[in-house]
Amino acid sequence: MSGSNMFDLTGRIALVTGGGTGMGRCFCEGLAEFGADVAIADIDEDAAKETAGLVEKAGRKAIVIKTDVTKSSEVENMVSETVKQFGKIDILLNNAGAIMGLNLIHETPEELWDKIIALNFKAAFLCTKAVIPVMQKQKKGSIINTASVGIVLPGDPDMKGSIYDAAKGGLAVFSRKAASEYGRDGIRINAIAPGMIPGTNFGAERKKLRGNDTTAADKLQHRISTIALGRPGKPEEIKGIVIYLASDAASYTTGQVFVIDGGMS
Ligand SMILES: NC(=O)c1ccc[n+]([C@@H]2O[C@H](COP(=O)([O-])OP(=O)(O)OC[C@H]3O[C@@H](n4cnc5c(N)ncnc54)[C@H](O)[C@@H]3O)[C@@H](O)[C@H]2O)c1
Repeated sequence: MSGSNMFDLTGRIALVTGGGTGMGRCFCEGLAEFGADVAIADIDEDAAKETAGLVEKAGRKAIVIKTDVTKSSEVENMVSETVKQFGKIDILLNNAGAIMGLNLIHETPEELWDKIIALNFKAAFLCTKAVIPVMQKQKKGSIINTASVGIVLPGDPDMKGSIYDAAKGGLAVFSRKAASEYGRDGIRINAIAPGMIPGTNFGAERKKLRGNDTTAADKLQHRISTIALGRPGKPEEIKGIVIYLASDAASYTTGQVFVIDGGMS
């Protein structure tokens, strides 16, 4: 393992949840560019099919598995279908997530708490639980969970979203502890915590949720001014950390949370 070979993913199988749009699509493309075949699991099957086209354009195989990652039966099907079609799973990227609401806690219906936690936290548990036995048999695997910069930076009071941040914080701690439990099986588990990445459906949703706030543009500018690099990020600027964690370049890296936020935190 030396030079650029240490990032080579030729022959590897990646399973990416939420691979239909945004960062997930970008990660699927990146994994394929470095040699991996990709199983794309998304609740939006049409979007996942578009991503599959990009993976194939990069010269790799792609399969699409329509999956709601909050439902254990669909997650079990997602994993068995990937193994049936590709024979193994080397990389699991728990990327599906959504903001769902920007409420203060006392304005949040209990059902919304359940939904936010189900997608942004429990889903990674379900997917990890289903994939671990496959990786244990292989004695090798890399699991990458998508958290958020909100786990280290509460931001200004207008940011709200404490339940979403708590879900992502739970996911980060889950990643660290699970890494300690499965390291001896050859399974590495890490989390990434992206900063402000507006060019995704998530970014658009956050903007929509702020819709009637007339000072939103000023507040956004203020927030951007706190980023060391002076600008928000692009999905492709988060790709490198995913390739690294998926590859043998990260063979001694586990239980870590990587904040990729242009210096915002
Ligand atoms: N964009 C940002 O600023 C930002 C910052 C930090 C963290 N994140 C996190 O990054 C991840 C990717 O988000 P994005 O910004 O690319 O947004 P996105 O909305 O473009 O992508 C999310 C994907 O998840 C899929 N999805 C939603 N619910 C699902 C379900 N129940 N089952 C399966 N798939 C489902 C969507 O169809 C979509 O393809 C999310 O976990 C998000 O919380 C985003």
